[in-house]
Amino acid sequence: MRKTLFNHYKNFLPITSKTPEVTLGEGFTPLVRSNNLSEKYKCEMFFKLEGCNPTASFKDRGMFLAVSKAIENGKDKIICASTGNTSASAAAYGARYNLETIVIIPSGKIALGKLLQAMAYGAKIISINGNFDQALNAVREISDSLNLEIVNSINPFRIEGQMTGAFEIIDELGNNPDFQFMPVGNAGNISSYYKGYSAYKADNKIREFPRLLGIQAEKSAPLVDNKIIEYPQTIASAIRIGNPASSSLAKEAISETNGQFLKVSDKEIIQAQSILAKEEGLFCEPASASSLAGFFKYIKSNNDYKGKKIVFILTGNGLKDPEVAEKYLKSEILQTSSKIQDISNAITSGKSKGFFSKFF
Ligand code: F0G
Repeated sequence: MRKTLFNHYKNFLPITSKTPEVTLGEGFTPLVRSNNLSEKYKCEMFFKLEGCNPTASFKDRGMFLAVSKAIENGKDKIICASTGNTSASAAAYGARYNLETIVIIPSGKIALGKLLQAMAYGAKIISINGNFDQALNAVREISDSLNLEIVNSINPFRIEGQMTGAFEIIDELGNNPDFQFMPVGNAGNISSYYKGYSAYKADNKIREFPRLLGIQAEKSAPLVDNKIIEYPQTIASAIRIGNPASSSLAKEAISETNGQFLKVSDKEIIQAQSILAKEEGLFCEPASASSLAGFFKYIKSNNDYKGKKIVFILTGNGLKDPEVAEKYLKSEILQTSSKIQDISNAITSGKSKGFFSKFF
């Protein structure tokens, strides 16, 4: 039988004999060693492919546990606010375990693939004229009176389930990486990794923390700018968040690991997304690519990364956001007749691969 996060990491999670096993096959995602970029940048780069989870984002690591605990506590309805991935994940687990799922999303700001997932899994979708932060406030206000279980990362079980990402990295590398670059939106995931590494440190599985680098988008960077952003903007819609719920734990994560918050522009995000796809064969969504964009920013003014082990968390699959890909990553299609000679001419015509043609 395939191992599950529920069984494999039971001792590190709040699982008791009363907790029902919930799984869609989440976790144990590939940690892929860089094939081209490592050599170029003189360090050992690894990419954690969280897009390989059942709903194609890291959210499933926390959702299995949040849903498991919701069932244990007799709940039959779950609710979340979302920039897309949480809603897709909640809807999938809700469908499988017969829980009504309600998702509140910022109107027009959800990547198409994620919205279609929530629809396909049969969630009740409420789209508001407002941003993620307002949607999350609404969820906080409504949930008690309607007896709904919140499955956003303000649910502590989400944070604990997502610690498994850190466990897997250590179990695979055998020690701590030196750096970890990851996107930060509502700041739940960086808090989870910090808690996960802390748990493994307490268990003597690692001696040191990796330095955590939390990357935000330039106009949605409340943790870099140290203020709430009322109207956050970015092409990386997953991290378009102005008032992160887990700010204080995320700040602790940065200070305790000698890390840093950095911000990157939309252009840098798209460049990194394209580089990951074209140089490593890894197609992640824009928010995920911000981790590599953050690395490029970091190395402009530091060289302590050389020769070091660096992990990048690629949080979601690139197919989730076809609109961004279509706009910025599209390359030319060579149209020919069906004649062998024409096809052959097209193959040898010397056209190069498309390269974020429209943005720049
Ligand atoms: N990457 C992706 C692909 C995400 O979907 C998110 C968050 C993040 C990074 C940031 O993680 O919020 O824990 O700091 N998505 C949430 C959602 C907000 O609703 O799907 P975070």
